[in-house]
Amino acid sequence: MTEWWLQRVPLREGAAVLDVGCGTGATALLLAERGMRVTALDVRKAMVERLRDRMQQAGVTLDVAVGSADAMPWPAASFDAVIGESVLVFTPIPAVLREVRRVLKPNGFALFVEMVAPTNAPPEWHEEALRVYGAKEVPTLERWHQHFVASGFRPAVLRFGSVFDLARDAAGFGDPGGLDAHALSDHEVLRALGEHLLWMERFGKTLGYGVFLLWPRPCV
Ligand SMILES: C[S@@+](CC[C@H](N)C(=O)[O-])C[C@H]1O[C@@H](n2cnc3c(N)ncnc32)[C@H](O)[C@@H]1O
Repeated sequence: MTEWWLQRVPLREGAAVLDVGCGTGATALLLAERGMRVTALDVRKAMVERLRDRMQQAGVTLDVAVGSADAMPWPAASFDAVIGESVLVFTPIPAVLREVRRVLKPNGFALFVEMVAPTNAPPEWHEEALRVYGAKEVPTLERWHQHFVASGFRPAVLRFGSVFDLARDAAGFGDPGGLDAHALSDHEVLRALGEHLLWMERFGKTLGYGVFLLWPRPCV
């Protein structure tokens, strides 16, 4: 998916890009390797430490910070682009979008790849998504649109579909890294994986994703 959207956004070499909720940094490293000046932020120290190891292995340097996306440490208008992949649903969405809008340059853009709930989801769809994944909110397409507009963006949906299509499309891009064998010996990881598989069996067919491109609207 990263390869897909990278071909469709105006990112030139040397652009200052913030990866919000970078996790272990696969996308942040890819962007750095493509010549962007990357800053990566994640609220979890363990994720950022893993990214630091990967930076060393890859011989790539980027700015890395531990912190929450609803209170970013950078001044206004710091970045040409802010991107996030599967992050907003785990955060207080309006507060994070406000911060994204603040740190973006006026002629910059934001791009998010996020889960999308079906419009007719029963209450347990949401309750279980919140319980199993720790999501704060999984919005419908319409609700995402409302969040983006309320936060001062002009949104466009670059792509929208089912997560099952995503898995099929990803097949051509090789091994994404997979699960680490050491993690699989951890009882908590196995429990979470089991919960995930059960959730996917019950609700996975109705789970969508969206690729959202956001342009800051001028302040009035
Ligand atoms: C599903 S992972 C996605 C990681 C990465 N973007 C990727 O696609 O591989 C979600 C990430 O968001 C981070 N996260 C959750 N809440 C956050 C917050 N308030 N601020 C910054 N990062 C956050 C988590 O620690 C986790 O690394």
